[in-house]
Amino acid sequence: MAEPNRCKAVVAVPLATDLLERLTVHDVTHIPGGRSDGSFRSAMAAAEGLLVSSHVHVDRNLIESAPKLRIISTMSVGFDHIDVDAARERGIVVTITPVLSDAVADLTMSLMTMLARGLPNAMTAVRANRWREGAAALGGDLAHKLLLVVGFGRIGQAVATRASAAKMRVEYVDLRSDLPAFASVARRAGLADGLYEADFVTLHVDLNEETRHLMGPAEFAMMKESAFFVNTSRGGVVDQVALAKALTEGEIAGAGLDVLEEEPPAPDDPILSAPNCILLPHVGSATIETRYAMAVCAVDNLLEVLAGGETPHALG
Ligand code: DGY
Repeated sequence: MAEPNRCKAVVAVPLATDLLERLTVHDVTHIPGGRSDGSFRSAMAAAEGLLVSSHVHVDRNLIESAPKLRIISTMSVGFDHIDVDAARERGIVVTITPVLSDAVADLTMSLMTMLARGLPNAMTAVRANRWREGAAALGGDLAHKLLLVVGFGRIGQAVATRASAAKMRVEYVDLRSDLPAFASVARRAGLADGLYEADFVTLHVDLNEETRHLMGPAEFAMMKESAFFVNTSRGGVVDQVALAKALTEGEIAGAGLDVLEEEPPAPDDPILSAPNCILLPHVGSATIETRYAMAVCAVDNLLEVLAGGETPHALG
């Protein structure tokens, strides 16, 4: 890493003491409350570096209010909370933390297992004094079922590795053509092509204008009535009203969602009352080890770029 000149930076996320200590080579303003904190805007006026998480919306307005900004380091792999075009226009580097694939892939497999085995109902039965009823209900195996992985980047591939070990048959669809060959995972030409036959469909794509509502009424109608749907990527990739309807009308068998279009959801969001739908509060990366690794990566990215160097985690 190149020797740093002292720079001004804003850290808009809670950060462990040892990592804040590493940042003392610069003049860092720590504002864990992010944009809601009154001191945020004035700190940004002088900031060359900004460290955020996906909870901090970095829009054009904010970028324009920071004339000296050189790097936005986000402690996330997703970057749909950042106006990347506005950053690019100013030559501002945007970096991500692609170190959470295992945690998200583990959660994806957990959701598939819970759906396949009907575990939410079984858990409820025990507490509701319906032990025998819970014990009598049979689920299905993962083994030999067909999994369609939509988006075959780092996380999609980590899911495919786990699913193959669980003896699932795995296929993927991806818009990119430069992907490495992956043992025993067949590529489907398009989403529709894969949806008809899949027993499980799992999403691992970025949210952008191309992928917004990638799964809508037509796509859910293509899925088998016995199929399960999992989303641990971004809520906006799914038309949530269409998903709630597909679940209610029995077009698909169940869904496991770690992400929603609106987080937290409005109390009257139909997804909250949709049948056989497991809902989690966006915890794909929420392990102690992974969150720490993400924080380390975000700090490394910030320090490297402030020092005039490059990082492999910069968006192209
Ligand atoms: C990510 O890193 O993008 C996770 O979804 C947390 O926001």
